[in-house]
Amino acid sequence: MRFKRSSTLVVLLEHDQFVFHNFLIQSTFAANAAALDIVRRLYAWTDVDQLHKSLSGYSLSSVERGLNQLVELGAVVAEGSPAAAQDAEFERSWLWGPFAGAFHFGARGGVFVSDQDSEMMLRELAKFTPSPALHQRNPDDRPKLTAPLKPSYDEPFRTMTRRRTNRIMLDEPVGFEALSDCFLFSMAITAMLDLEGIGELPLKMTPSGGARNPFEGYVCVRNVEGMTPGVYHYAAIDRSFSLVREGPPPPFPSMLGEQEWTANAAAVVFLVANFERSMWKYHDPMTYRVIAIEAGHIAQNMLLVATHHGLVGNPTGLINTTVTEAALGVSGATRAALYAVVIGVPAPFSGDLGAIAEAG
Ligand SMILES: Cc1cc2nc3c(=O)[nH]c(=O)nc-3n(C[C@H](O)[C@H](O)[C@H](O)COP(=O)(O)O)c2cc1C
Repeated sequence: MRFKRSSTLVVLLEHDQFVFHNFLIQSTFAANAAALDIVRRLYAWTDVDQLHKSLSGYSLSSVERGLNQLVELGAVVAEGSPAAAQDAEFERSWLWGPFAGAFHFGARGGVFVSDQDSEMMLRELAKFTPSPALHQRNPDDRPKLTAPLKPSYDEPFRTMTRRRTNRIMLDEPVGFEALSDCFLFSMAITAMLDLEGIGELPLKMTPSGGARNPFEGYVCVRNVEGMTPGVYHYAAIDRSFSLVREGPPPPFPSMLGEQEWTANAAAVVFLVANFERSMWKYHDPMTYRVIAIEAGHIAQNMLLVATHHGLVGNPTGLINTTVTEAALGVSGATRAALYAVVIGVPAPFSGDLGAIAEAG
């Protein structure tokens, strides 16, 4: 049996200690001198005898014990194991280096706080540390131009003024046409750009860095007219929805950070990044930012289309990636559900929705 250190292992310094962190599996533990000595040498597949010979002052059995412990903690992988396969997949596919990798895999989430607890914590925080200002005023002692407000606005501006997050949704169905419009105006391919020697680049109503279009759309349907409950993939090329999994999707709160308000939604759209599409062209980790920005472009169009149809689109970034990606059948180091739009029938909203549209 041969061993190799995990490619996603980083060594950090905390106080006076070295700390190992495998960012792919989120495993963190203190490392002693012997552990450092072992992983330092395991940059390529090595068997126990070779390793033992290269280390001085350790018995064979203590090297074996140390290795086993490091395998258990995820610092080292054993040849042929599922961990080694996962490690190899990362090495093969992740082109943005350890820092973007540590950020991406470290930000996959897992511990979710209830809305009530979060509000309570914020109130406590605000007592001692007031929030930074959430908008910046222009100084009064300098000339300024103030944009006028019209008495009313036409489309599309009217719809834009009416978009609002409304987490109170009625347990009622939404129509297929409204849902398919949400995808049509945000994700459908509307033209192809043929670049000689490079290939075809899809063009959509939302912009994409280098026209790499890293996002695929999935929708978990609970209550949509004309669609059996299930998980669907949307093909941007022919605007079709195809069942990935039939039957009621997992309860929405279990996919969305235990947010109970999502339970009544008719459908939840997941935007799944396919990083390899962008990595193929861009090896700079700054592309990670570009991809997050693109999710915003897509989602904003979806929210506006939902609003136009009298529905609500509630955005959420609080995704239980493990539950969600299993339900969608999405796997691999370069695939990730990054953003969700919760679609439903809104309860009448009592806030100042449309205040700008009605202004004057
Ligand atoms: C990227 C992003 C992530 C969000 N994530 C959540 C979330 O996890 N849960 C939630 O209840 N709202 C979430 N929201 C909604 C915001 O709370 C909401 O947009 C904000 O309160 C402003 O309200 P408005 O959308 O009506 O303008 C998110 C919004 C954005 C843009």
